Amino acid sequence: MTLPRRNFIQSTLATGLLLGGAPSIHAASKAKKYRTALIGSGWWGMNILKEAMAAGNCQVVALADVDSDVLELAAEKVKSLSGDVPRTYQDVRELIDKEKIDIAIIATPDHWHALNAIAAIGAGAHVFVEKPTGHTIQESRAMLNAARAANRTVQVGLHRRIGPHYVSGMKFLKDGNVGDIGSVRMFVHSTGGAEKPAQNSQPPSNLNWDMYCGPAPLRPYCRKIHPGGFRNYLDFANGTLGDWGVHWLDQVLWWSEEKFPKKIFSSGGRPISGPAVFNEKEQTTDTPDSQIAVYEFESFTATWEHRKFAGNGPEKHSIGCYFYGTKGTFHMGWRDGWTFYPADSKQPTVHQDAQHDEPDGHSIKLLWSDFIAAIESGKKPTCDIEIGHLATNMSLLGMLSYKLGRSIEWDGVNEKIVGDEAANKLLRREYREPWKYPTT
Ligand SMILES: NC(=O)c1ccc[n+]([C@@H]2O[C@H](COP(=O)([O-])OP(=O)(O)OC[C@H]3O[C@@H](n4cnc5c(N)ncnc54)[C@H](O)[C@@H]3O)[C@@H](O)[C@H]2O)c1
Repeated sequence: MTLPRRNFIQSTLATGLLLGGAPSIHAASKAKKYRTALIGSGWWGMNILKEAMAAGNCQVVALADVDSDVLELAAEKVKSLSGDVPRTYQDVRELIDKEKIDIAIIATPDHWHALNAIAAIGAGAHVFVEKPTGHTIQESRAMLNAARAANRTVQVGLHRRIGPHYVSGMKFLKDGNVGDIGSVRMFVHSTGGAEKPAQNSQPPSNLNWDMYCGPAPLRPYCRKIHPGGFRNYLDFANGTLGDWGVHWLDQVLWWSEEKFPKKIFSSGGRPISGPAVFNEKEQTTDTPDSQIAVYEFESFTATWEHRKFAGNGPEKHSIGCYFYGTKGTFHMGWRDGWTFYPADSKQPTVHQDAQHDEPDGHSIKLLWSDFIAAIESGKKPTCDIEIGHLATNMSLLGMLSYKLGRSIEWDGVNEKIVGDEAANKLLRREYREPWKYPTT
């Protein structure tokens, strides 16, 4: 069945899926105020905190960051938006000891997510943590176990599970409008070229570099890593598959209701950005500029591809997932909404525009209110830690196969790679002292 676009959007409106205007801070000021701390007060952390403040149910008592300039800016913003005057910390352990927080929002680089989330949960807080849950699979498992043991609500920042066009697109898929779906292709393509190494240097005086590296190796500082650049350094993150990938891999799990693939193979490299450089004088990023990953499930195969050059000119879309079904091809996108291209070219395409919060095109407002509702009802939030864990595992398994250069068979029930000791060692990593790999 092809749903005419106008009717579809009307029915979406009727079910209240479209975003309303931003609730004002004052309108919601009678709600319970949770003592809230933001850990990692950079770009995305502040996007979340702004929505939390606007919802009117948190008192921002503390901010943490290892960059004092970031902290200062964030504190000023909080004061101007909410009137709260948060205390600022460079060491999360001190914040957690002193502040008796109800909620921790965690938006540090990925290699810090697990330690910070587990510490906050251990102190009794509910946690809103960014994707990917962990930098390695066993960190993510430890986060899930800690959340369950302490009976805390842990929401993962997979806002693409709650954004209106993703919800309506998923309904369209699950209602059978695309027919039987036999394969899915996930992709993120951009433009770029060769990468020149950047000089290593002393970290700026506002940045506690030792604490930034934390459990990761203390590598020489270079200006491209912070802020934001950590994504493309394997010490701190897992490149495009570990970043963008988690969102789109999650769409596949959401649609299929599968928990994990049984076989994974990934290949890639740096044919355009050039070989990774890392020496006493200079460094480049070290994640692949192009990569494919194949995920074999019981009844279908999904593929991932990214490219940081050439864009994706010949195709209509550069980001998202194509679901290929017997009735046509469905594209779930980001700013381009979703579109169904029927196999029968006489049928019209069906489309819904994206609806996001700005800046940065997200649905954190909805995810935040879902988080608070879950805390208050004791029910699981939409992007519960287990959902985040399974989506993160997909990306980390792809990276694991890429690093090993061979396919792996995943025993998702026991979270082990079948018959491959070298691969199983990569389910965790060595931590730099004094940090201890989480074992819960
Ligand atoms: N869900 C989404 O759509 C989405 C979008 C963007 C970013 N993210 C996630 O948000 C996280 C942050 O990304 P970003 O782009 O804001 O990065 P960023 O570099 O701008 O901010 C991270 C901040 O964390 C700070 N930090 C580092 N170590 C710390 C520590 N031990 N304690 C406290 N602060 C520490 C850094 O100094 C930096 O200011 C990442 O995990 C990223 O994947 C999610």
